[in-house]
Amino acid sequence: MISRRQAFRGLVSMFGAAPWLSSQDGANINWDDPLYGPINIFDFRDLAKKKLDPMAWDYLEGGSEDEQALRDARDAFKNLIIRPRMLVDTSKIDTSLTLFGKKLEYPIILDPAGGKNCFFRGGELEVAKAAHNAKALHITNGGIDDLVESGKGPDTWWQLTTGGNLMNKQIRKAFVKRLEDSGCAGICFTVDIMHVSHRERDMHNKLERAWCESGLPPRDTNGQLPKAKNPWRAGIYPSRSSPLPTWETLSELVNDTKLPVIVKGIMIGEDAERCVKHGAKGIIVSTHGARQMDHIGAPVEALPECVKAVNGKIPVLVDGGFRRGTDILKGLALGATAVCIARPYLYGMAAFGQRGVERVLELLRTELALNMGLAGVPNVAAIDRSLVRWRWEHKA
Ligand SMILES: Cc1cc2nc3c(=O)[nH]c(=O)nc-3n(C[C@H](O)[C@H](O)[C@H](O)COP(=O)(O)O)c2cc1C
Repeated sequence: MISRRQAFRGLVSMFGAAPWLSSQDGANINWDDPLYGPINIFDFRDLAKKKLDPMAWDYLEGGSEDEQALRDARDAFKNLIIRPRMLVDTSKIDTSLTLFGKKLEYPIILDPAGGKNCFFRGGELEVAKAAHNAKALHITNGGIDDLVESGKGPDTWWQLTTGGNLMNKQIRKAFVKRLEDSGCAGICFTVDIMHVSHRERDMHNKLERAWCESGLPPRDTNGQLPKAKNPWRAGIYPSRSSPLPTWETLSELVNDTKLPVIVKGIMIGEDAERCVKHGAKGIIVSTHGARQMDHIGAPVEALPECVKAVNGKIPVLVDGGFRRGTDILKGLALGATAVCIARPYLYGMAAFGQRGVERVLELLRTELALNMGLAGVPNVAAIDRSLVRWRWEHKA
């Protein structure tokens, strides 16, 4: 039987030693390692589904209510057509960029994701270690301080907040001081989760939300999980005991820290403009993975109006449904500076822990580089709006 490496070498000779192919023969890779079984994000998705308890899987994969926004996030990419440019020298492809003064090797950022312990014990640390090895920017949910101190944490990391640390001046100041002292590169303020939505898969499953912090308990011999003490329920009027963050909260945070503050969860141009006005240094156009408000369309559909509204004053990032190098290319062409991902790396983590996260990043960044080569854009600066058209747009 011929090995995968021999087959690859055969391909190279068949295509007359195409320079890109011959430089990528993967000689140091043990292709028999199960890590190299999955060849794309969808293969990792299948593996993760097989590996996880169905309840954990639903928590990872699901969206809210009708999951319309979840389907839209993927479907929107079908309506974006790449306009490839031929006979451009793409012998050297450079995916690097600079974001807030830091050089990144590629425009793929690891999004925050709570509840990682439901998918892999110590998941946050697995991801942080992978980010270090893969030199990716990691937006952490927290708890990686010791790793960062040991020098094995991500080189560049941003801390997530959803407003709990911003309630009053004292708490806010202590929060930003801790981050500034520990080498944090930025603060990501998620603004679309002021109320927790109805994630109906989790409601039907009677998921105890706390399990996703501590880890899903093992099922008993009858396949039963313990009865949830505090499951998610429908039909409860939304109110909170204390006021929720407002634009004023954003201004206060910005004024209290030297770190750049980026706002995650923006979906309309007017809010993108408000972010600039209130001192945010960047935004993430996002629907929270379609896990919060439903029926709000796809982030890539909202991206152009947000890009237009900020008018180049701050970087615009985007997330939601990015599974392919071509998806990333499309996001960049619509004006995003970088793209963030959550489920793809969670699939990798569920399947193989840290190594799975690294491999997912490797697959996505090489797919991006390959498609940049095929589209005739040797570097990210060459990617502009003319590289894509909506299916219904016609270039004269
Ligand atoms: C399991 C899971 C947990 C998440 N937890 C958070 C969170 O704690 N804070 C947050 O801002 N976004 C959270 N998100 C949303 C992601 O950061 C991101 O916006 C979204 O999932 C991107 O879409 P993608 O999963 O299709 O890549 C979570 C997403 C998933 C799948």
